[in-house]
Amino acid sequence: MTKLKVSIVGCSGYVGGELLRLLLFHDQVEIQQITSERFLGKPASRTHPNLRGITKLNYTSINDLEKCDTLFLCLPHGVSSSSINYFASKASQIIDLSSDFRICDDTLYEKWYGKKRKSSKYLENFVYGIPELHRDKMVNASYISSAGCNATAVILALYPFFKEDLVEKLPVISEAKVGTSEGGNKFSMATHHPERTGSIRSYMPVLHRHTAEMVQELSFNSTSKIHFSATAIQMVRGVLATSHIFLKRDLEERDIWSLYRKYYLDERFIRIVKERQGIYRLPDPKILIGTNYCDIGFVKDPNSNRVVVISAIDNLMKGAAGQAVQAFNISNNIDEIKALEFPGFHII
Ligand SMILES: NC(=O)c1ccc[n+]([C@@H]2O[C@H](COP(=O)([O-])OP(=O)(O)OC[C@H]3O[C@@H](n4cnc5c(N)ncnc54)[C@H](OP(=O)(O)O)[C@@H]3O)[C@@H](O)[C@H]2O)c1
Repeated sequence: MTKLKVSIVGCSGYVGGELLRLLLFHDQVEIQQITSERFLGKPASRTHPNLRGITKLNYTSINDLEKCDTLFLCLPHGVSSSSINYFASKASQIIDLSSDFRICDDTLYEKWYGKKRKSSKYLENFVYGIPELHRDKMVNASYISSAGCNATAVILALYPFFKEDLVEKLPVISEAKVGTSEGGNKFSMATHHPERTGSIRSYMPVLHRHTAEMVQELSFNSTSKIHFSATAIQMVRGVLATSHIFLKRDLEERDIWSLYRKYYLDERFIRIVKERQGIYRLPDPKILIGTNYCDIGFVKDPNSNRVVVISAIDNLMKGAAGQAVQAFNISNNIDEIKALEFPGFHII
């Protein structure tokens, strides 16, 4: 079996580290290069000590990239797009994990990112990347733009309601509790231990850029009104999104079960979690660490037409590296779950 040669650009970061961990155990992949400018020449284990003794790869510079089959780009916002011609000359497939190619509409982009986007012939070639919703377009795709972490949790949870036109034309309110790893591995005063520890920081009550993806993916006949807020809590990995939607017509809980079954019954990485008993009755990101699952639960308010939808993911996995590998598998006609079978831990 010929293995696909892949390289990970921006591998010293948190997302790059998770991609490396997954792809080292992917039997149809050979990792050709990993890049970091800060850690040039140093071993991968300098930044990802969990991989000590597992790989001998050392960091190279972006400028020394060799041709390969797939380039995974784990770079900050703006960096992938500014060098896209160079990256495209190095690989027949690019999977970008930044937000540079997620938003198709220039006006929507400008509204949420606060600046005009440079025109790029590549933009229209990128397939937006939530595998469960864009699987058909991903098959044989050369350019895939992986979805944002909070966006993934909210879109997967709400998609069936919007797709079936069940949501009243009122705003939908969604609030996510997020882990600190969402901010990447650069230090700042905001992440300094004495400042960060014990705080619950409402860091993005409005204007979170992932809202653009939610509007893009959940607008069908008209533009959906979605309001999203994010709160950073005392957790390293994970997203727990609580969304409040108001239904056009009253549905019973069994109808909502059927709705989710219609869309997600055969999805390997989506679980509807709504138990009557036990302590994990609804989704909880704690048990998803290191996994590619998105757990979705719901409760119908018996006194109104409100449904509270709760969704949980690991931001670095289903929110980033995991769904990028899932998209890579789909696009290369490899079994979708390859390298993603890890079921997670109960106690950590
Ligand atoms: N963290 C999450 O939960 C999450 C989830 C979904 C998507 N994402 C997206 O994934 C991307 C990576 O996130 P992350 O959390 O892994 O960030 P990170 O920990 O800060 O890592 C950033 C990586 O990019 C490299 N880099 C930074 N500036 C660069 C530049 N100007 N030129 C070349 N390389 C540069 C860094 O390499 P050096 O060692 O050379 O500095 C590092 O390897 C971001 O676009 C982020 O928005 C993140």
